[in-house]
Parts: sequence; structure tokens; C-alpha cells
Amino acid sequence: MPQLKNDRYIRALFKQDVDKTPVWMMRQAGRYLPEYKTTREKAGDFMSLCRSADLACEVTLQPLHRFKLDAAILFSDILTIPDAMGLGLYFTQDHGPRFERPISCKKDVDNLITPDPEGELQYVMNAVRTIRRELKNEVPLIGFSGSPWTLATYMVEAGTSKSFTKIKKMAFCEPQILHSLLDKLADTVINYLNAQIEAGAQSVMIFDTWGGVLSSRDYNDFSLQYMTKILDSLHRSFAGKKIPVTLFTKNGNQWLEQIADTGCDCIGLDWTIDIATAKMRVGSRVALQGNMDPSMLYASPERIKQEVATILEGFGNGNGHVFNLGHGIHLDVPPENAKVFVDAVHDLSVKYHK
Ligand code: CP3
Repeated sequence: MPQLKNDRYIRALFKQDVDKTPVWMMRQAGRYLPEYKTTREKAGDFMSLCRSADLACEVTLQPLHRFKLDAAILFSDILTIPDAMGLGLYFTQDHGPRFERPISCKKDVDNLITPDPEGELQYVMNAVRTIRRELKNEVPLIGFSGSPWTLATYMVEAGTSKSFTKIKKMAFCEPQILHSLLDKLADTVINYLNAQIEAGAQSVMIFDTWGGVLSSRDYNDFSLQYMTKILDSLHRSFAGKKIPVTLFTKNGNQWLEQIADTGCDCIGLDWTIDIATAKMRVGSRVALQGNMDPSMLYASPERIKQEVATILEGFGNGNGHVFNLGHGIHLDVPPENAKVFVDAVHDLSVKYHK
């Protein structure tokens, strides 16, 4: 296997020495980049962009041409899984993703197909293979999936939600139906992420965007236990290389210790927690990814640099920090500000790695 030219991101996830703190941005490929909008127009719509290996590869690489990012992330979406399970995904202008056939009863769950990652989801694996070829081992490729709970919220609510009443009604009135859905999703995610690893993903991340809407008692039951099941069955090494896994529960700061107990390599942090506190709580066991407020990218270059410096100082000396935003980059952020951010992480972090 040829060596990665820049392996800072992988090394940091395993808490090994690096020369600078690695950095990437959640949603780094997307509508804040004019070149993304051009490619998306060429594709016609978002899912056609995801289904074309060449165009998905093109947009994956776009942010890497502009910024000195230490990792690429597969261009796709978490909702490819429910789509492949037969729910009929479509995107609306105003309300984001929607499903033609949402889940509302036991029969709906029983009827779900278990997708074959090299069948219904082969377009995702083709994108991974194409991107790996075009990356030429410059930086590692991150694969990803939604968590079972987060995927289930979209499948039961029929799209994005604010109050999550439909899925919570199911959780509290007919928990056995929801558990059978979450179990099917966990099995599907295991197959999907293992296939991404076999296709060439060098690290994987699980997005539990909506785990934080659960009560402190329900989080383990409906989200964390299924992510733990996934972690227990993922390829943790492949083709002679260890595969690091990151878990990100947005609004999940109260559960950092439990998340570290799953055996993941890294915890993704949103911006609401002080990274020094997070490091004190779990930093001896796992790496930490994060955690600048994405809205800080609206600020002046001086303010962005100051915030980067504060977060680096909060983590302090020692290994195991992957710099990132605390959630996805906003679509109206000036790309120049993203460059200021990435460069600041590299420039200002050298002193912590001597
Ligand atoms: O990070 C990256 O650059 C890789 C690509 C990526 C996308 N979605 C592309 C995308 C990743 C990792 C995701 C994950 C994703 N998708 C999550 C979890 C992470 C998070 O942000 O919390 C979630 C919840 C989704 C579901 C989803 N996909 C929504 C709610 C939307 C609509 C919102 C919006 O911004 O329009 C999408 C569409 C989507 N996924 C876009 C992109 C670039 C915008 C589509 C477009 O071009 O119009």
C-alpha cells in the first residue's frame, strides 16, 4: 500500500505526534463555493450529483484546491440509506429533504429492504473508488453515515423536523417498532460503512445530528447503543491499515464519557463546550474533533484567528486534536474566510507540537 503524503489527520486520531494540528471542515464541499454551484447545475439536482462518481469526485476535491485541508470527505449524503431502503427521497426548495413513503407503523418497518452496498448503493462505493484514485494519496478520505437514530428521525418525520413529535410518539407509545427500525438501520450502516472502507475510505465518521434532542435517559436507549453496535462490527483495520472512527452527537456534551466508552477513536464536539473541559473529561481516552462556532466564519480575519488561537490554547499541548467547525459551514460564508481559518490552524498550532 502506498503511504499517504499527508497523514496528519490519521495520526491525530490515533493521538500520535504531528507537526501541526490537522484541520478539515464539516460540509467543506457545498454551496458556499461558486464552483460547487456550477457543478451542481451541470448535474441537474443534488441526488444526480451524488449518483455521478465523476461529479461527486469533482466537488469532493474542490475545497482541497482552494484550502490546505488535511482530509477529504466523500461527497454524498446521510439520506442515501433511507432512499435505498425504498422511501423515495426528494429535495424541496424550502423544506430540505422529504420522503414520499415515510415510516409510520410496524408494516412499514417490516417491508423495508436491506440495501446491498454494492447494489442499490453502489454509486456511493463508485464515488469512493474514484475519489481515492484522484486523491493520489495526498490526504486521507473520510467516509461517513448518519447514526440509526438520526436516520430514523428523517424516515419517521418524513423530512427535517423541529419538534420530533412523530418519532417521539413512536419511541414512547410503540418502542418495539422503533427499536426494530433502529436495529435494521444499524445493520445497514455496518454494511454500508464496511463497504466504504473496502472501497477505500481511510477513516469513517458517524453523524448523530439529532441525538441531542433525546433526554439524558433516552439517549443510550435510542441512539448510543446502536452506534455501539455499529462500532463493534466495523472493520477497525483494512489492508494492513488501522481505520479510525469518529462519533459526533450534536448537542451531546452531557454524554462525552459514555461516548468515549463505545471504543470510538475520536469524539466530534459541537461549539457549545469549552474544548479544555472536554479534554479534561475524556481527552486521555479519545481524540477530539472541533470545535469553532461555524458562524465565526462571518467575522473579520483577526477575529477568526483569535478564536482559532483560543481553541488551540484550550486544547493545549499534547496529541489528539483534529480542528474542525462545531457543525457544517454555512452556505453564505465567504470562501476567503474559510482560507483564513484553515491557514490559522496550521500557523498557530506549530508551537503546541514541538
Ligand atoms: O461534508 C461534506 O462536504 C460532505 C458532504 C455531506 C453532505 N451532507 C452534502 C450535502 C455530508 C457529510 C452530509 C451529511 C448530512 N446530510 C447530515 C449530517 C451532518 C449535519 O450537517 O448535521 C444531515 C443531517 C444531512 C441531511 C441533509 N442533506 C439536509 C438536512 C440537507 C438540506 C439542507 C441544505 O443545506 O440544503 C441535505 C442536502 C445536502 N447535503 C447539501 C449538501 C452539499 C445541499 C444540497 C444542495 O446542493 O442543494
